[in-house]
Order: sequence, then structure tokens, then C-alpha cells
Amino acid sequence: MWSSNVWVGNELSISGISATDLAKEFGTPAFIMDEADFRARAINWNSALAQGFGENAGSVYYAAKAFICTEVARWINEIGIGIDVCTGGELAVALAGGIDPAKIELHGNNKSLSEIEKAVSVGVATIVIDSLQEIDRVATVATAQGKVQRVLLRLTPGIEAHTHESIATAHEDVKFGFSIASGAAWKAIEEVKNHSSLELRGFHAHIGSQILDTDSFEISAERLIRLLARFRDEFGVELPELDLGGGYGIHYLPGDEELSPSVVMSALVSAVTSNCSLHNLSIPRISIEPGRAIVGPTMLTLYEVGTVKDVTLENGDNRRYISVDGGMSENIRPALYAAEYTAVLANRTSNAAPISTRIVGKHCETGDILIRDIAIASDIAPGDLLATPATGAYGRSMASNYNHVPRPPVIAIKDGKARVIVRRETEADLLGLDI
Ligand code: LLP
Repeated sequence: MWSSNVWVGNELSISGISATDLAKEFGTPAFIMDEADFRARAINWNSALAQGFGENAGSVYYAAKAFICTEVARWINEIGIGIDVCTGGELAVALAGGIDPAKIELHGNNKSLSEIEKAVSVGVATIVIDSLQEIDRVATVATAQGKVQRVLLRLTPGIEAHTHESIATAHEDVKFGFSIASGAAWKAIEEVKNHSSLELRGFHAHIGSQILDTDSFEISAERLIRLLARFRDEFGVELPELDLGGGYGIHYLPGDEELSPSVVMSALVSAVTSNCSLHNLSIPRISIEPGRAIVGPTMLTLYEVGTVKDVTLENGDNRRYISVDGGMSENIRPALYAAEYTAVLANRTSNAAPISTRIVGKHCETGDILIRDIAIASDIAPGDLLATPATGAYGRSMASNYNHVPRPPVIAIKDGKARVIVRRETEADLLGLDI
């Protein structure tokens, strides 16, 4: 839940810097990122893949959508893993951070022509194709640039992943990829083979996000490998790559489990090796795309408490509302997916009895709830600080300017030093786009 250098004691601190000092220096709300923890997580996933698959280990492609900025792209570059980008904007940040295009994979269910042109011209490793029309688009762009583009086909293996319906992606009724069951995948394979400017390297599947059991990943691998075998039977050659996507769940609440790299990898290795041997296939190059599992636990959000209000409910009970200085603009996940978070008092300890409390933001909506019900010290007052763990994935990256609230900064801490890696927006930024 908390990143490895967070200490929750008398006062919460990260790598020795107290929440109070951080709030004083950088203001609130702020995303506080534990850089060493980020690096360690990225390295762990990479080593687990390398150990699990040995010479058949492909790449860890960090899923930029979870969180990216130029500085984090530089870390990715230093660590030496790859990156998955799904828009021209994410591609631009990856390039600005110095990531070698040969380590970039381009995703997206509706890539624009200019996004495809840019990706082909800088020489991204792979484009993951999502539709029949896109096969033509990528082929045309590659031909025009005199290149042969390596591609994977995104497939939907027909899995109902155990997660929120908005973040499950591999059942039949979705906008992503080509369904294996309906025959769309096979049609796409035949279509790709008609284009000499495309080199089909293999298949990709991403079954969903925040998944906490390994079964669905194993079934997905099994179905992709069955299709690799059909390809070999039909065309007499084996495709060399499989990208098994991301989606590994993390813990948000005390007592939650997370899917560790070693647990994931032992499931993937056993599913891949047993299915390849069943079909007498050599083991392809295996890649994965964790986003949340790398960045999620590395950040916390620091808030200042504003208003504290007690509301009498119809049944006579009391509900305490604590309003913080952020809300659904920097954490939309509770409103969008009923995601649950916890929070702690970060600037002091309290012996006051905990009472049932709702933590809400400052936006003009009843649904602007960060934590629906938490037992927290009854003496929390305006000016106190609250910290919410595990906000690194899809927090800042999905932040909006709703109600013209400037988006918070990201502060990276390493070896006891804090620095801004994404600055806080200002009112000037908000006005800057208006003509
Ligand atoms: N690969 C592809 C093709 C993806 O679409 C995604 C996430 C990932 C990898 C990384 O998944 P992760 O390891 O981070 O679970 N906004 C939602 C999550 C949407 C995920 C979209 N795709 C949330 O806040 O839960």
C-alpha cells in the first residue's frame, strides 16, 4: 500500500522528509513520489521476466498511461526497459525523455494517421494493430516511408476478467482488438499477410486492469498460443512474439493483496511452456506491460483539510464530512470505478477516538467523494494533513481541470531530497488556452 520509503509514525515521512515540510515547501494537494520505489519496482518486473523466460524474455513495456512525464521517461530509459504508449502525446513524452524508439510499442484503438506517421518515422519497435482499417493505414504509411513496420495484432481472447467492467478489456463486446472466437482475428492475420510493408511478429492481448488472480492471464496465454499453433499449421512458420499485456493488481486498502512479479511470472511461465509444448511450438519472445503495478504504490497524495462538517442523517445518525483541497479532479477513480482508498492523518498522531467519516473534495458535485466511509480520528481539524496511499496509477494521469482547479504537482523524493518533476498548474495555465 505505502511505498517502501514511507514511514507512518508520529508524523508521516518519505525518505526522511516529513509531510509537514513537504506541504510547506510544495503546497497541497500534491502527488509525492518515491523515486527509489519506482525504480525498484520497474527493475523487479524486468528481472522477474528475465528470470522466468530466460532467452525468451522479451521486454517489460511500462504502460505510460498509468503515469508518465519527461523525468519518469528518463528513469525508464536509465533502467533500460521499454514503454507502451497509446497516443501521440505519450509518444512525445517518451521521446522527450530520451527513450530509444526501438523500445517503444504503440497502442491505441483509433490511432490517427499523424500518430502512425510519427511512430513509423521515428522507428518504434512495434505497432499493435487494432482494426482492419488500421492494417491498411499502417501499411500505407510504411510503404510511403519505404519501411517495413513490425506489428502485433491485438486480440480479444474472450475473457471476463474479474475487475470493474470499465477496465475489463478482453471479453467479446469491447472496442479493442480482434476477437479470436468470432474469426475476426484470423481474418486480420490473412489481411496483414497481404502487405509487404508489414511484418507480423505475433499477437498481443491485454485482458483488463487491477486483476488480482492469475487464472485469466493463464487462459489468455493459452488462447493466444492456440492461435500461434494454427498459424504455424496454416503457413508453415512460427510467429516469434507474444505480448501478454498488463493489468496486475495492487493493494489499495489495509489487508488487500497484490500480484507480485514472482507470482505472475510463475503463472505465465507455466502457462506458456505447457501450452507451447502441447502444440509443439518453440517458446516465443514474451513481453508484458505493467503500468499500475510499477507506479501505483510509488505515490501518495497529500491533502490539507479544509472544512469539517457534521451532518445529521434522516435516521438521526451523524455523518462527518471532511473536505480536502483536491477531489475528483485529481482522483476520479472513486467516482468512475467505485475505487476504494484509505487515508491517514499525516502531520501528527491523535489519540482521539476514530469516528465514521466521509472524505470529500472541493468540487461542486455530491459524487465528489474520495473515501466513502473511513474510521478516522475525531479531532481532525482544518489545517491538518491527510495522506492517501497508492495514488500513482491513473491519478495524475487522469486528472482534469474540473471547476478550473489547477492540477497538482508531482514531487519526486530520493535519498532524502525532494524535487518537483511536474509543476503545479497555475491560474495563468488555466487562462493560457483561452482566446
Ligand atoms: N497494456 C494495455 C494495452 C493497456 O490498455 C493497459 C491499461 C495496460 C497495458 C496497463 O494496465 P495496468 O498494468 O496499469 O493495469 N483508468 C483505469 C485503468 C485503465 C487501464 C487501461 N489500460 C483505472 O484507473 O483503473
